[in-house]
Amino acid sequence: MKKTIFITGGAGFIGSHVVRLFVEKYPDYKIINLDALTYAGNLENLKDIQGKPNYIFEHADINDAAKINSLFTQYQPDGVIHLAAESHVDRSITDPNAFIQTNVMGTANLLNAAKHLWGKNAEGKRFYHVSTDEVYGSLGETGFFLETTPYDPQSPYSASKAASDHLVRAYGNTYEMPFVITNCSNNYGPNHFPEKLIPLFINNIKTNKPLPVYGDGKYTRDWLFVKDHARAIDTVFHNGRNGETYNIGGFNEWQNIELVKLLCDKMDEKLGRPAGTSQGLISYIKDRPGHDRRYAIDANKINKELGWYPSVTFEEGLSLTIDWYMENDAWLSNVTSGAYQKYYQEQYK
Ligand code: NAD
Ligand code: DAU
Repeated sequence: MKKTIFITGGAGFIGSHVVRLFVEKYPDYKIINLDALTYAGNLENLKDIQGKPNYIFEHADINDAAKINSLFTQYQPDGVIHLAAESHVDRSITDPNAFIQTNVMGTANLLNAAKHLWGKNAEGKRFYHVSTDEVYGSLGETGFFLETTPYDPQSPYSASKAASDHLVRAYGNTYEMPFVITNCSNNYGPNHFPEKLIPLFINNIKTNKPLPVYGDGKYTRDWLFVKDHARAIDTVFHNGRNGETYNIGGFNEWQNIELVKLLCDKMDEKLGRPAGTSQGLISYIKDRPGHDRRYAIDANKINKELGWYPSVTFEEGLSLTIDWYMENDAWLSNVTSGAYQKYYQEQYK
């Protein structure tokens, strides 16, 4: 069956893996990548699929309602997979308004455009909202986030994502818009912007810079290889039930400091440095304000209902990721020049 699908934020980290998967797996679909190319968006991430006949890039800001409406009229999409967002918690602490604007208002613009195009006759259409486990807040030492866990966002980023989740459900309920939402745990893998823990630390180990661990380092995250997230999105987009939420996670919890030590040891091996060298770069610094202690996803619903399970072990995924950053110096130096230097100075001064 032919479909026209808008993927927003397709030039970013997760979006680029989703775009590639859809373009390669569904040659009959028309995949339109809508991206504003902020600091986090990079068409280099997609250069291997640039010339494919079923792929189109549209330089568009989801905050520009008129432009979004005209793209919906022009392409008449059957589905939207919405990933475009401001995504970094630390930046949301210094500049919350950018997050409220893009994550809340930008999502509302897409919902309005879809509502206008599909109306009540929306059978076969689907608005897929890609969200985060951070909307559930922070866990203690035990327990897991379920789809029924009450929302309790703690950062401007997670509050803006929670607001957008609520809007999507409200449009589904009020205007009969078919939708699905997924809430995923921390992703890692190639093309991850080096402001987030794993790519930042890989880059710093490579260049012998301090590894800035926040607080006591005993914060816990559940890590999932990005291509497994893209596979989950494909599964839910095609087979998820309308109006449902699915949690996606890696069944893979790590305390930050343990993960950092593992990364150091693997990098020492790959760089041919004496064992223990990179751990010497670890530097505990002031904590992130309002830092969520632990995230852990119960991903049994998507597993039982749709048969999805992570396919890449952490061992394999981390090794692939490190190799990618070792082999892509040009990508790294491109994204760490200019504005990145200023961001880094201000964040870690
Ligand atoms: P990212 O920051 O790497 O990429 C975001 C993309 O959105 C970029 O290409 C950027 O140019 C684009 N964008 C930003 N503002 C835009 C705007 N106003 N109009 C159009 N495009 C815009 O983010 P990511 O890590 O790939 O995350 C993608 C989505 O997945 C986000 O919605 C995020 O909340 C969600 N998510 C991320 C993770 C994670 O671990 N990274 C986990 C769960 C959910
Ligand atoms: O859980 C899903 C979320 O994961 C996504 O919704 C977000 O978009 C994504 O950025 C990520 O949020 P986190 O805040 O968990 O990711 P980050 O890589 O920023 O931080 C991971 C952990 O590492 C967290 O406990 C903070 C810590 N950290 C991070 C940085 C950047 C440090 O100790 N030092 C650092 O320099």
